[in-house]
Amino acid sequence: MPKIRIEGNHELNGEVTISGAKNSAVALIPAAILSTSSVIYNVPKITDIDYLIKILELLNCKVEMKDGNLYIDSSKSKNADIPEELSVQMRASYYFMGALLAKFKRAEICYPGGCKIGNRPIDLHIKGFEALGAKVTQIKSKFIIEADFLKGAKIYLDFPSVGATINIMLAATAAEGTTIIDNAAKEPEIVNVASFLINMGCKITGAGTDKIIIEGGRSLHKGVVEVLPDRIEAGTYLIIGALLGDLKIKNVIAEHIHAVLVKLKEVGVKYEIQKDGILIHKCNNINPTTITTLGFPGFPTDLQQPFTTLLTQAEGKSIINETIYESRFRNAEYLNIMGANTKLISFDTLEINGKTPLRGADVYSTDLRAGASLLVAGLIANGITTIDNIELILRGYEDVVEKLQKIGAKIELIP
Ligand code: EPZ
Repeated sequence: MPKIRIEGNHELNGEVTISGAKNSAVALIPAAILSTSSVIYNVPKITDIDYLIKILELLNCKVEMKDGNLYIDSSKSKNADIPEELSVQMRASYYFMGALLAKFKRAEICYPGGCKIGNRPIDLHIKGFEALGAKVTQIKSKFIIEADFLKGAKIYLDFPSVGATINIMLAATAAEGTTIIDNAAKEPEIVNVASFLINMGCKITGAGTDKIIIEGGRSLHKGVVEVLPDRIEAGTYLIIGALLGDLKIKNVIAEHIHAVLVKLKEVGVKYEIQKDGILIHKCNNINPTTITTLGFPGFPTDLQQPFTTLLTQAEGKSIINETIYESRFRNAEYLNIMGANTKLISFDTLEINGKTPLRGADVYSTDLRAGASLLVAGLIANGITTIDNIELILRGYEDVVEKLQKIGAKIELIP
């Protein structure tokens, strides 16, 4: 597998256009099976999408990707068991559980994959399916989820899980009567999926709030949706701009990264929100801060690792409290190899003592956003950095090498 090679510490200038959101697109594609045919605009070219298209084709759908738009004919779709070699490729394969349960009243699929950042159980998903009347059997890593009949229910999520909220919403579209998802997650990707389902003929209210109401059992038709801009990609490039800018970040919804913008301002970064994007300026005196990750609209857990790299350049002590995952600081050891001074206070708290100049090193991407953190570190480090295991980075950042080369980064893929 190739590596990324960066010659760091070069000023960057120009524009970056944000792609469609990975975490929306990977939910919209399984949802498409509920329609007769559908079009999903602005789909990012990342490997997760390729695997999801393979699963749709396994389900006898005709799929065409053209100019970043996905055309799906699911009028002749047939149920099929989804093999482990496909389901294990990403976390989002589990959205086929809710989608197939709704479409065929039966789903047979193995445990999903996903970044190693914690246990990542799916108990809340299963609890939701069972509340709707499904029987869930687990045989080793395989789940068989089936129902003669799905009936609307009131479901309370012990934790506002993004995945469980979307998966239960998918299943509830076929449940007779009213389903209420209480303590639902409020991420923008949930609104994106709900808008797609509504476009197909579903009746859903409350998406984006902590209470979503689905009137199920309606017949669905063609659906059309556009993938939202990727708020995590946008936040990553804003962090790069704060360190090496000025950068104009285009195709970004500022409200979706409000917490990140607040924190950037707090540490001294200057930016202007303009009508066609955000202009961010390099900041030479970064102040330390404390970050606590929360569900939307709080500070997103997916940006704490890239933000950690920024805080290695802050004068003083910063703290990161990671409240969503149990093991999401694996980038810190590699940042320290590059000269940072971070310390794990406990499994969920990282201390960062800056300002420390970073030097190039050979590092390894343990998970997608750890890889992003090391990419940012390589861009500011003195000397050469190589990042191994980069397929994880390419999963979440469309054309990341090309986008960075375009604004002046000395970055390339090496065999
Ligand atoms: C989605 O993961 C995203 N992935 C994650 O992004 C993101 O970090 C996360 O939401 C939170 O925003 C995709 O959308 C593909 P959760 P998901 O269910 O759905 C626990 C990235 O880098 N939990 O909200 O798995 C779980 O263990 C990825 O792009 C249960 O305990 O997130 C975790 O600690 C990483 N039981 C917490 O909730 C369950 O049944 C958050 O999980 C489900 C989740």
